[in-house]
Amino acid sequence: MPSRINPSILAADFANLERELGRIRTADLVHVDIMDNHFVPNLTFGPPVVSRLAQVSPLPFDVHLMIDNPERWAPGYAEAGAFSVTFHAEATTNPVGLARKLRSIGARAGIALKPGTAVEPYLELLPEFDQVLVMTVEPGFGGQSFMPSTMRKLKTLSETVRKSGLDVWLQVDGGITEETIAIAAEAGADTFVAGSSVFNAADPAAQIARLRAAADE
Ligand code: DX5
Ligand code: ZN
Repeated sequence: MPSRINPSILAADFANLERELGRIRTADLVHVDIMDNHFVPNLTFGPPVVSRLAQVSPLPFDVHLMIDNPERWAPGYAEAGAFSVTFHAEATTNPVGLARKLRSIGARAGIALKPGTAVEPYLELLPEFDQVLVMTVEPGFGGQSFMPSTMRKLKTLSETVRKSGLDVWLQVDGGITEETIAIAAEAGADTFVAGSSVFNAADPAAQIARLRAAADE
């Protein structure tokens, strides 16, 4: 199956978001990073901005919640029309309950793991999720370097998904470039978030094509 490339608008020009969305229309989904200055030491935007942007976006939204208390906020992003809503495993004590709530609203449910979080406790929960996000940097900022140590988790996940026959997308986020995307694809990722490597390119559409080619090699 061909790889999905999801550019992160964290690296876009915030003064021109509608225009920036137009530059990545050859991508698969738009990755939207929500940060609350509690779960991570950075702050981005919230529901009103996301729901308005979703109205003008040619592509569906892949929302990544780096926030505490996702129970309070995640359903609102699903109601705003997000295609997928991913919350952090470290931020909730009831991941299954929240995943079911998101699915009941019609969104795909995702669970994200920080680099230091073990994957094993979540393997038996995979049927409750549509995607798992393996963070390949510490969440909070764009432009960081890919951590190869996270690839072990991806291999465990891809083996488990393959054996179980489940249809769970395996996503990586952080430091994805033409070089690192091949490493993550080899480890079993099929969905790739890329912020600075797409938006810092002179031609984002050409960069999306290069990333796709490097992942599918
Ligand atoms: C980091 C965010 C990422 C970020 C990736 O906490 O979750 O989505 O935008 O940016 P790059 O691709 O620049 O590492
Ligand atoms: Zn992200």
